[in-house]
Amino acid sequence: MKADLIVGLQWGDEGKGKIVDFLAKEYDFVCRFGGGHNAGHTIVVDNKKYALHLVPSGILNEKAINIVGNGVVLSPKDFIKELEQFDNVKGRIYISDKAHLLLPYHAKIDQAKERLKGDKAIGTTGKGIGPAYGDKITRVGHRVGELLHPKKLTKDIMEYFKIQKPIFDALQIEAPNEKELLEELTFYKEKLQDYITDTTLLVWEALESSKKVLVEGAQGTMLDIDHGTYPYVTSSTTISAGACSGLGIAPQKIGKVIGIAKAYCTRVGNGPFPSEDFGEDGEYLRKMGHEFGTTTGRPRRCGWFDAVAMRHAIKLNGVDRVALMKLDVLDGLKRVKVCVGYEFEGKTIDYVPYTLEGVKPIYQEFQGWDGSKGVREFEKLPKEAKEYIQNLEELIGAKIGIISTSPNREDTIFRT
Ligand code: GDP
Ligand code: IMO
Ligand code: MG
Repeated sequence: MKADLIVGLQWGDEGKGKIVDFLAKEYDFVCRFGGGHNAGHTIVVDNKKYALHLVPSGILNEKAINIVGNGVVLSPKDFIKELEQFDNVKGRIYISDKAHLLLPYHAKIDQAKERLKGDKAIGTTGKGIGPAYGDKITRVGHRVGELLHPKKLTKDIMEYFKIQKPIFDALQIEAPNEKELLEELTFYKEKLQDYITDTTLLVWEALESSKKVLVEGAQGTMLDIDHGTYPYVTSSTTISAGACSGLGIAPQKIGKVIGIAKAYCTRVGNGPFPSEDFGEDGEYLRKMGHEFGTTTGRPRRCGWFDAVAMRHAIKLNGVDRVALMKLDVLDGLKRVKVCVGYEFEGKTIDYVPYTLEGVKPIYQEFQGWDGSKGVREFEKLPKEAKEYIQNLEELIGAKIGIISTSPNREDTIFRT
C-alpha cells in the first residue's frame, strides 16, 4: 500500500485541517511530517471548533491512529496542553523518538532574534521553530527519545548552555536552573512516555500490512525552506518531499498527492506576496474569510489566487488533485481577480523567479457570484463560480477534485 499525501500549496492556512479531518475516516493512520506548533489547523465538527497545532488532524476520527513524525519539532509543554482537550487518546497517538525537542529557550531565542532584526524581521510565530530546527541542523539539538532519561538530558542541556554561553549572553537569555529543568523534563517524561516510540517502524508496518496511511503536511509550499520566499519562510521542508524524510517513507511508497489551496490567497508574517490586495477587496476577504491566525491571532494579509505560484507549487509537490477551499468567501464580489503572470525586472514572466521581491502581478478578471456557501453538489454552484473553477483548472493545469464551501465537514464537494 502507498501513503496518500496532503500538502498546502500557498502560504499556509489553506484549510488542510478540514480536508485531513474529512478524509481521515477512510484511513487507518494520519501522520504529520514537519513543522511544530507554528501550525494551526482549525477543524469544525458539529459546530464545535478544535484548534490543532501538533496533534495530527485525524484525532477527531476514532479509528485513525495519529503519528507525529521525526521531521516535527515538538514542544512537550504545548503538546501536553493540546492533548488535554481530548479524552482517552492513549493508543491513538504516537510521537517519534527521533522528533526534535523544542524547549522554552528556543522560543526566547526566536523572539530575541526577531527583535534584533527590526524591520527585517521575518514575522515568525515566535514559537521557537527556527532555533529548534537550527539546533537539529547544527547537531546540538535533543530528541524526544532523550526525554525517557531526564537526568542525562538535564546534564546535556546544561552543557549546551555552557558551550553556547556567549550567544545566550548576547541575546540576554539565562541558562535554566538545573533543578527546575530536571523537574520539568521529568514531568514531560511522565506525561509523554506512553506515546513515544519508533514511529518509522509503525509506518513501515502499516504500509506493509496494507493499512491506509494519510500524510498531513503543515504550512505551505511558499513557506518551504528551499522553494519558498526565502528568507521569509519557515525552517522546514513543507513540500511533499518532506514526507519521505519526515516520516521515513521511501519515495515510491507515496501514492496520491492532494494539494490544498484557497480560492484566493493569504499570508501571515512578512515577505513578498505579489497578489496582495491592499484595498477594499482585501479587507472584504479578511472579514468574510475570518482571516486571523489560528496560532497567533494576527490578521492575515489577503489577496487574489496566484496561478503562477500555484503552477510552481503543483510541480514541486507532484499534485494529482487540488482541493479548492473557501470558495464561499468570494460570494458577493462583483469581480474576482486571478494573477496570471508577473512583471519582473522589466520582463513579463509566467514562472516563479528566485525571489518574488519587486514582482508585480498581471491580473485576469472574472465575473463574481453569490450563493456558493454550503453548496454540496458541483452542479448546484452558481454558474459564474463553476466558470471560475474551470478557468482556474486551465490556468494551473490540474484538476480541482474537491471544493469546500464552508468550515463544516459536510460542506465539501467531490468531483470525479
Ligand atoms: P490549515 O492551517 O491549512 O489547516 O488552515 P487553518 O485552519 O489555519 O485556516 C483555515 C480556516 O478556514 C479555518 O478557520 C477553517 O475552519 C476555515 N475553513 C476551511 N474550509 C473553509 C471553507 O470552505 N469555507 C470557509 N468559510 N471557511 C473554511
Ligand atoms: P499552518 O500549518 C501560516 C509563517 C509565519 C512566518 C513564517 C516563519 O497553519 O498552515 P515560523 O514561526 O515558522 O518560524 O515563522 O512562517 N507560518 C505560517 N503561516 N500557516 C502556518 O501553518 C504557518 N507556520 C508558519 O507566520 O511568516
Ligand atoms: Mg493554519
